Amino acid sequence: QDGYDLVVVANRLPVDVTVNSEGETAWTRSPGGLVTALAPVMAQTDGAWVGWGGSPDLELDPFEVDGTMLVPVTLSDVDVQRYYEGFSNDTLWPLYHDVIAPPTFHRHWWETYRRVNKRFAEAAAAQAAPGATVWVHDYQLQLVPQLLRELRPDLRIGYFHHIPFPPLEIFAQLPWRRAVVEGLLGADLIGFQRGGDAANFVRVVRRLTDLTTRGQVVTLNDAHGRVLRHVRAAAFPISIDSGAFDALARTDEVQLRAKEIRRELGDPKTLLLGVDRLDYTKGIRHRIKAYGELLADGRLSPSDTTLVQVASPSRENVGAYAQLRDEVELLVGRINGDYGQVGHAPVQYLHQSFPMEEMAALYLAADVMLVTALRDGMNLVAKEYVAARSDDRGALVLSEFTGAADELSGAILVNPHDIDGMKDAITYAAHLDPREARKRMRRLRRRVLGHDVNAWSQEFLAVLTAVPLRSSHV
Ligand code: G6P
Repeated sequence: QDGYDLVVVANRLPVDVTVNSEGETAWTRSPGGLVTALAPVMAQTDGAWVGWGGSPDLELDPFEVDGTMLVPVTLSDVDVQRYYEGFSNDTLWPLYHDVIAPPTFHRHWWETYRRVNKRFAEAAAAQAAPGATVWVHDYQLQLVPQLLRELRPDLRIGYFHHIPFPPLEIFAQLPWRRAVVEGLLGADLIGFQRGGDAANFVRVVRRLTDLTTRGQVVTLNDAHGRVLRHVRAAAFPISIDSGAFDALARTDEVQLRAKEIRRELGDPKTLLLGVDRLDYTKGIRHRIKAYGELLADGRLSPSDTTLVQVASPSRENVGAYAQLRDEVELLVGRINGDYGQVGHAPVQYLHQSFPMEEMAALYLAADVMLVTALRDGMNLVAKEYVAARSDDRGALVLSEFTGAADELSGAILVNPHDIDGMKDAITYAAHLDPREARKRMRRLRRRVLGHDVNAWSQEFLAVLTAVPLRSSHV
């Protein structure tokens, strides 16, 4: 084979690879929304996926999983520290999420980010067939589109940004802002979650470059002022494999497990649920604070209410994440200390990751799902909850600062900074009239089941493949 017609490039492979002491390799599914979204897309194409296996210094040959060729990129210990933990998750992540945590700027992190992006671009260039489509993903790889175009001008290059794109006033803090914009403009199509993200990007292009823009199309000229190519920015809200999730939640095993979970929790009258990576963008502290106050006010009774908070471990070597863990665990300990009884804790805190079956059962068991992120590109947990509720029951409390809020009009929207407002919304959701709940859930399900991840990827790839191929120079 002289290369693949579709190559996905993402920081992570869809699997985390580990090698045991006998030198045997094993893999498990990677965390996070990006992999959740792309795994079903790739399962249907004969393509390649370039990414990191999740451990430092792992040198592996390409291997096939479920019909997709996985092409590992090796990151050294120092690369992990500077490119992944440093620039990606201690500079870009907080900067792009409303500076909820202060971003750290280090020149040596930036240098490593550039070098690692180059390696991803080279790996992608080596896998792509002539005229192939390469789809680059997310903030860890913003320089890949341009670097790849220099290596392979024959390719169609798409980029999708899974997280928010910040307003100019925040983006402009980045010392390497021009280079990042130029990196992205190597793509033919740049996808965002919300219309507002695309608008922010176009405004950044207008202010930081002298390129011309028309609507959401940027025009690049050559040295003689002739049009070289166009770059289109647009919103493509991502989704989940809704049908598969719906089917999973309907299985006897999951249905039984949901009942069992409620029993194990002592059959609470109201079961509230939060499911997040343990990340400061997710609003976990605000949520727990609101819950604690509801118990203190007597608006929720600690003896018949439980909040299950799944907080899956994430980016634990980054300072802000370690600190958040301490803060959340302090809060949980206080509430359980103040309002618990022998055999019953009002907060069930689980710092763990669970398989999809268990997640589906938790969603089905929960009366109220709390998605109260301070900022989130989309939030697929909200969509998973909806897809699981084929019984048309349950209520979704959803932060207006998530991409999902643009689409999910049946949700009870909240501003997570407004603790009083959130308390009212949680109380309202906990006592929701079943008819009203059904009406809302049906509306939510129409959207989530009607627009799944396949629709998302097909829409993106249809626009990308409509771009005319250029055979010669950049
Ligand atoms: C978010 C990002 C993804 C990332 C995921 C998990 O969903 O958009 O790019 O993969 O979080 O984070 P991690 O740092 O573990 O890859």
